[in-house]
This record gives sequence, C-alpha cells and structure tokens, in this order.
Amino acid sequence: MPLFRKKTPDVVPPAVLPEHIGIIMDGNGRWAKKRGLPRRAGHGYGAQTFRTIAKHCEKRGIRYLTVYAFSTENWKRPQEEINAIMNLLRDYLKESLADFRSENIRTRFVGNLDPLAADIRELMREAEEVTREKTGMVLNIAVNYGGREEIAQAARRLAREVGEGRLSPEEIDEQALSSFMYTAGQPDPDLILRPSGEYRTSNFLLWQSAYAEYVYMDILWPDFKPADLDAALAEYARRNRRFGGV
Ligand code: IPE
Ligand code: IPE
Ligand code: MG
Repeated sequence: MPLFRKKTPDVVPPAVLPEHIGIIMDGNGRWAKKRGLPRRAGHGYGAQTFRTIAKHCEKRGIRYLTVYAFSTENWKRPQEEINAIMNLLRDYLKESLADFRSENIRTRFVGNLDPLAADIRELMREAEEVTREKTGMVLNIAVNYGGREEIAQAARRLAREVGEGRLSPEEIDEQALSSFMYTAGQPDPDLILRPSGEYRTSNFLLWQSAYAEYVYMDILWPDFKPADLDAALAEYARRNRRFGGV
C-alpha cells in the first residue's frame, strides 16, 4: 500500500491560534469610490471577500468567527445603499441554504433582527436550523447589531426576570449579563480585526471585547486576502496577553 505524505500547508499556522475572531468588514464604499463605482458595487465585492475569508478561517481551525455586516447605525445611509446590502444578504442566505451540506459551518445571527424584512428573517431562521448540527466553526453574522443595543436588551430581559421573581437583583453579575448577550455560551473574542484604516470599534462587541487583541490593517475589505488573515494571526501569536495579571 503506498504511503502518502500529508500535504504541506501553504503557511505554518502559528502555535497560538485565537479561538474566536471578530472582523469589522469595513472599507467597501471607499474601495468602490476609488474605482469610480457606486458604493453598492463595493458591498458586492466585500460579500465575496466575506465568503473567502470565512472559509479560510474554518480551514485554519478557528472555532468562532463573528463578522460585522450591518450596524444599528447603518440605517442612516441612503435607502438605495441599505437595499443593496439587504439584497446581498438575501442572496448569500439563499446560496448558503442551497449548498449548506458542503460546509461544516454552523451559522448564527446576532443583533436585533426584528426590524429586518420578514423573508430575510425567515431565511436566517432556516440557515440557523439547517446548520445547527454542524461541528465545525461557528459563524456569527452581526446584522442590525450594536454593542449598546445588545447590552440594553440584556438589561431589559434581566429586569423582566427580576420583575417576574425568577432572579434577585443580587444575582445580576457579569456572568448573568453574559448569558443574556447574543453570543451567550460562546467564548469572548480573542482577536478583533479592523481593515480599512479606521481605528475604532464602531459599537462592535462592546461587552465581549474587554480583553480582545485588536489588529488594525490599512487594507480595504474587498482587497482583504487569506494572506492578510494569516498576517493578523501571526501578529496575534506575538502578543502577550496578561488579562490584568503579570
Ligand atoms: C463596510 O463598508 C460595510 C458596511 C458598513 C455595511 P463601508 O460601507 O462602511 O465602507 P466605507 O467605510 O464607507 O469605505
Ligand atoms: C462599522 O463600519 C459597521 C460595519 C462594518 C458593518 P462603519 O463604516 O459603519 O463605521 P464608522 O461609521 O466608520 O464608524
Ligand atoms: Mg465604513
């Protein structure tokens, strides 16, 4: 029987991998503008980058990936741009439902989904349903997500628990709050990437990012390549995380 060597990976994965990565997928509009294209074209390319990078994270052995797709503040944009983003989301959902069998990714949606179109919410529900038993990477897609909104809804639900006598105010601690976040049961992000050259969180994972390592990259999201993700992983591996200790 012939012996086959295991294929050498294209890069040596770093010894320390983040368990959970967050990505602020930013820079689509500027990418389009640079090319004289409408902003929606940038979102189209950005959606393609998202597909490629999500698969690459799974290949690298990342257990959780949270991507910021649409914020609670993005409703301020022109209606035409919002429609284009929602149409891309719809296309992605239909496509992922059609070929979900080929991926070992469990998809979840985080954010306040209530204001979204009914058909999109239904597609999201189906995508969560059909991938529920997957054992590979958990992919959280943040849509109409805002860190402050998430904390406010957690407070509201906790207040309801107290009001209905299921919880005492003394029991409201960090763990209780965590259990009411959209990411309940998942580890906090270890690494948060922001391409596009902006140095801010823009309301992403406020509660969960207390000890996340940030990597900012001067690359517009549609130009972001698997090699850029690898560079961020290498940078993460060089960080010294102390969590307040010594
Ligand atoms: C990120 O790209 C996508 C969304 C916010 C939906 P932008 O649209 O913010 O692109 P820039 O930052 O204007 O270049
Ligand atoms: C953050 O990017 C939201 C997403 C990438 C979905 P924005 O482009 O909305 O953030 P600001 O306005 O530059 O802070
Ligand atoms: Mg932006």
